[in-house]
Amino acid sequence: MRAAVVTTFGGPEAVEVVETGVPEPGAREVRIKVAATALNPVDAGVRSGVFGRAGRRIGLGWDVAGTVDATGAATAWRAGDEVVALDHGPVKSLGAHAEYVVVPADAVAKAPETVDAVHAATLPLNALTAAQALDLLGLQRGQSLLVTGAAGAVGGFAVQLAARDGLVVTALAREEDEELVRSLGAARFTTGAVGPGSVDAVLDAAVLGEAAQAWVRDGGAYAGVIPQAAPAPVRGVRTGAVEVSADGARLAELVRLVDEGALTLRVAETYALDDAAKAHARLAEGGVRGRLVLVP
Ligand SMILES: NC(=O)c1ccc[n+]([C@@H]2O[C@H](COP(=O)([O-])OP(=O)(O)OC[C@H]3O[C@@H](n4cnc5c(N)ncnc54)[C@H](OP(=O)(O)O)[C@@H]3O)[C@@H](O)[C@H]2O)c1
Repeated sequence: MRAAVVTTFGGPEAVEVVETGVPEPGAREVRIKVAATALNPVDAGVRSGVFGRAGRRIGLGWDVAGTVDATGAATAWRAGDEVVALDHGPVKSLGAHAEYVVVPADAVAKAPETVDAVHAATLPLNALTAAQALDLLGLQRGQSLLVTGAAGAVGGFAVQLAARDGLVVTALAREEDEELVRSLGAARFTTGAVGPGSVDAVLDAAVLGEAAQAWVRDGGAYAGVIPQAAPAPVRGVRTGAVEVSADGARLAELVRLVDEGALTLRVAETYALDDAAKAHARLAEGGVRGRLVLVP
């Protein structure tokens, strides 16, 4: 099978599509024939060496939509099941940017019925991250939340989930994204600063750090998206960062929200798997709205 990997770190040109063996599922694992697999900022980070460990093959890709093709012992999944999954982990010899991927059975959920695989592939990583970041914040209905990077993948899902939970959401995004983020459920919009201490919490998907923390009231909460890089707590503002975990049961709830029309899946462009380096180059140019999706 073909798979997108890096063996040396660098720019988009470091991405190679190689021929390699089809991976075999072990106990409590399933193999998915990949129909579509999204390209995320973390893949650019892996490619450029953010996660270290050069000198051996690292497979790219976390998000997958496809069909179960083989199962190890002790899984309830069956060949032919249409699924989505999170292939968790920055350093792995093969990832989801491939024709087949093996994942733990408990990282898998039934695919949404109302969207195609290309759209479904944009769900797992970023919707799980948004949901788990909101868990960290632990807000109650009626409380106020500022989401930075609200037009991005994590931010967009966070706006939708938070508004659905009855939070009063302010979206921080580029001027041209106001209509989009309001359509996702933001009650308020800003392109820059809000008043200091004016919200109960921030979900900082744009990684603004201390500047974003300053907008939280005394005793509020800050959730970042870069583990180990959350600002130090000040004024009683609790700080932390989400580190996404693969959670098939939670993913199934998010799939249900897609099928109810409560979560919007946004695709910018599709690329053939063989053109993975071109997709990385497009992502590096910036300004992409919706995800770039690779199709094997
Ligand atoms: N910790 C975890 O487990 C985890 C999981 C998933 C993602 N992440 C991280 O979460 C971050 C967001 O991911 P993503 O996929 O949502 O990225 P994305 O789709 O690129 O979204 C980021 C958004 O933030 C906007 N933005 C950046 N700076 C801004 C500013 N100063 N003002 C207004 N908007 C601004 C960007 O706009 P422009 O494109 O115009 O700059 C973009 O719309 C990334 O750093 C990613 O690595 C972490």
